[in-house]
Amino acid sequence: MNYADAARRALTSLKDGFILLAIESSCDETAAAVLNGRRSVLSAAIHTQIPLHRLYGGVVPEIASRSHAERIRAVVDEAVTRAGVSVSDISAVAVANRPGLVGALLVGVSYAKGLAYALGAPLIGVDHLQGHIAANYLTHGELEPPFVCLVASGGHSHILHVRSYSEFELLAKTRDDAAGEAFDKAARALGLPYPGGPELEKLALDGDAYAYPMRSAFNESDESDFSFSGLKTAVVNLVHTEAQRGARLNRADVAASFQRAVVQTLVDKSMRCLERTGESTLVLAGGVSANAALRAALKRAAEARGARCFYPEPHYCTDNAAMIGCAGYHRLLQGCADGLALDAEAEWRL
Ligand code: KG4
Ligand code: ZN
Repeated sequence: MNYADAARRALTSLKDGFILLAIESSCDETAAAVLNGRRSVLSAAIHTQIPLHRLYGGVVPEIASRSHAERIRAVVDEAVTRAGVSVSDISAVAVANRPGLVGALLVGVSYAKGLAYALGAPLIGVDHLQGHIAANYLTHGELEPPFVCLVASGGHSHILHVRSYSEFELLAKTRDDAAGEAFDKAARALGLPYPGGPELEKLALDGDAYAYPMRSAFNESDESDFSFSGLKTAVVNLVHTEAQRGARLNRADVAASFQRAVVQTLVDKSMRCLERTGESTLVLAGGVSANAALRAALKRAAEARGARCFYPEPHYCTDNAAMIGCAGYHRLLQGCADGLALDAEAEWRL
């Protein structure tokens, strides 16, 4: 099959109602969504593996791959049925193919390939982080590039200059742990279950954010990049000191102090990037964008500089397939489609 032709055929049907199926399986959620056009989500289905991984305190790649393989067909069928369409109505198939757990990604990529081949429809590989950014287009109909975007997820934390729907420039990044990873590890040290981010946020609600000083010379320097492993280690050390000396630790205060330090770092570095690029729109994306303290602090800081601040609706913050569909749709609009050689890739590249 000629995929460029299939993409062209699909594009000519845009005006007649364009049905795109999207699949996401990069980590611990098996998800599918059906979109009608660029920003209209007809349905979304998701199977979360969190209970499976909670037992081990984090994602176990082999268990993730197996669970995706078991569930993907039911999840796709559910999305198609809920959308009120039939499989033959699907004009294109978008799938997250990088970055992520390779075994997990391969399940979604293989399923999407089979479907695209059977339908003669274009197959569109989507960068998972570009998907997270696109979650904002679903929530905010008026949002268009250019803007500065802080992408903070479990595996990545980057600040990008989104110049257009297809041009991205890396402005700053974490030198070690991703923000979500730091939340998860700090939460684990505090005895909270996986995934720790939302649990730590809940605990922090009852804490004093100034009780424990959590400074980072690197984060307070003029560096564009940032670092979270020192803050995570500060939490681990506090817990160890408690165990060794028997000094009682106020866990809510630790959680609040840690969260404040992470949020402050992300806000400071994002503001620098706004200044550096001269942009007046700041966008937040990725799982950590569900954090209410981060959302509020970024909005306050951006608006104080006369910039607008956007973040996704809560259900589009963490992994989902609708965001993959939206990003895939934009790739298709640029005439991009992948052939059956599309591969899964663990690493992120711009
Ligand atoms: O984007 P995502 O769903 O998956 C990846 O692409 O990694 O992000 C998951 C990460 C986890 O580390 C999780 O703890 C974190 O996002 N997270 C949060 C919150 N909700 C999810 N971190 C802080 N506060 C939250 N409310
Ligand atoms: Zn993600």
